[in-house]
Amino acid sequence: MNKQSLASSAGKYHESVMIKEVLESLHLSNRLHLKTGSQIIDATLGTGGHTEAIVKAGGKVLGIEADPKMLDIAKKRIGPSKAEASKLVLGNFSNIEQIAKDNNFAEVDGILFDLGVSNLHFKDDERGFSFSDSEQDLDMRLNPEIQGVKASDLLNVLDQTQLTQLFGKVLSHNESKRIAGRIMSVRPINKVSELIKLLEGLPHKEKLNPATLPMLALRIAVNSELDNLNEVIPTAIGLLKKGGKLLIITFHSGEEKIVQKYMEKRTKIRIPSYQEINRNVRSRSAKLYVYTKN
Ligand SMILES: C[S@@+](CC[C@H](N)C(=O)[O-])C[C@H]1O[C@@H](n2cnc3c(N)ncnc32)[C@H](O)[C@@H]1O
Repeated sequence: MNKQSLASSAGKYHESVMIKEVLESLHLSNRLHLKTGSQIIDATLGTGGHTEAIVKAGGKVLGIEADPKMLDIAKKRIGPSKAEASKLVLGNFSNIEQIAKDNNFAEVDGILFDLGVSNLHFKDDERGFSFSDSEQDLDMRLNPEIQGVKASDLLNVLDQTQLTQLFGKVLSHNESKRIAGRIMSVRPINKVSELIKLLEGLPHKEKLNPATLPMLALRIAVNSELDNLNEVIPTAIGLLKKGGKLLIITFHSGEEKIVQKYMEKRTKIRIPSYQEINRNVRSRSAKLYVYTKN
């Protein structure tokens, strides 16, 4: 990580990726197309970076966020002065249709999904998203108030075949099987440190911490990330006006495969600039898929 991105990751907000490309793709930053008052749904509000930029460019935003902590931060950031142009609500994008209707955003100019979790999740010292704070409980729920199942529950309750399937969303079958076998022989597992210990000595991708991909697989499972994405894409397309844009920023191949399944045609793929990757290392795996509704 370079000095600049270290400095920004120490900040109080998530470092948003590809803001310029998002605004261009929504036709908000191109004067020829500027449409003040365009209705945009930010389905993964996070700490509000994209929403703030869209509101500044003249858009009206419905922001949806599953995590109450992130929603609080975004609300303070966007502030009452811009409240008229935006509605920020707690909810899961799997309910996007109902949330959009309830807020009069039922036929919109654009919808943005910036997938995954925010930098702040990895810095939260209570929730078990990060392998660097190993005494945390393995929790990983985006909204602990309504989600009953923690990452540790999955490790302690699923059978070996189910565990192999869980890790298989991100790792090869053999890698997943080995991890599942080790879990079965050492569980119960409650802390991040216990998971890290059982992964010791297992083959893993060079340059990556051995816990990175297994923890990603667990997070995906706890929050039904891939199932939610799979289900929401056709619904989101249904909410767009003719000519409306669906923007999805992916960070790994599991997400890409789902997006590509729906977006073969009428899709443009953009990647971050060299300068952005230098500034924010997390952006290096980002891909922005832009789909235009017929
Ligand atoms: C990468 S961050 C988005 C950052 C945001 N675009 C910004 O600029 O600050 C992804 C956010 O989506 C939220 N999220 C993930 N899955 C969600 C879901 N199914 N419904 C609503 N929010 C979700 C996460 O809690 C996280 O805050």
